[in-house]
Amino acid sequence: MSKLLLVETSPRGDQSVSKRMTRHFVSRWREAHPQGHVTTRDLASTKLPFVDASWLAAYFTPPLQQSPEMKQQLRLSDELVEELLATEHLVIATPVYNYNVPASLKAWVDHIVRKGVTLGFDGQGLIKGKKATVIIASGGVYTEGSPIRDRDIATQYLRLILNVIGITDVTFIAGGGAKNVDLGTETMDDFLAKLAPEIDRAATR
Ligand SMILES: Cc1cc2nc3c(=O)[nH]c(=O)nc-3n(C[C@H](O)[C@H](O)[C@H](O)COP(=O)(O)O)c2cc1C
Repeated sequence: MSKLLLVETSPRGDQSVSKRMTRHFVSRWREAHPQGHVTTRDLASTKLPFVDASWLAAYFTPPLQQSPEMKQQLRLSDELVEELLATEHLVIATPVYNYNVPASLKAWVDHIVRKGVTLGFDGQGLIKGKKATVIIASGGVYTEGSPIRDRDIATQYLRLILNVIGITDVTFIAGGGAKNVDLGTETMDDFLAKLAPEIDRAATR
């Protein structure tokens, strides 16, 4: 059975451009994988704790020596890693906030990059044979030819971190200019229609 893990970030519900792009992706993916299974991890509703001293103490204690409290400390991180390891296709849907990913997505990254589990002690990524699609909505446009292309930190960061854990087959879908939807100068449907061919290709590859 094909498996898709959808990591969503926007808190904006139906107003969210990245969620609407993702909805289109998932509907195409389901058509292409009728027996497939979709798991959704919504980071707007899963409040991930940031890494702190007690989390680090648990993380750096070998599993056989961890106290029940330490195991509890890592439980959510373990769950997120299990979701990732169980999937074939990871989809990350995110807004750009201040040129980077929202803090909730950075927190997810801090929970899934685990030495000895997703990242080898030799620095090699341990996740093999998976593909990823990253769906990004941004107010500005950062694609080829844009005068602010060098500010596209979110894309660079996500490509790097996925590569670090071993996911190198990554497709990026840039929903740039989403501010036009918020300003009402473009309808959500028109905005999505421009991106539909790209989304369809990513969902059926
Ligand atoms: C707090 C905040 C910071 C933002 N920072 C940027 C930014 O640095 N660059 C940009 O292009 N858009 C920025 N935006 C616009 C969002 O990326 C845009 O509204 C996008 O559609 C949000 O994704 P969503 O519609 O899925 O919620 C920002 C929006 C918010 C709310």
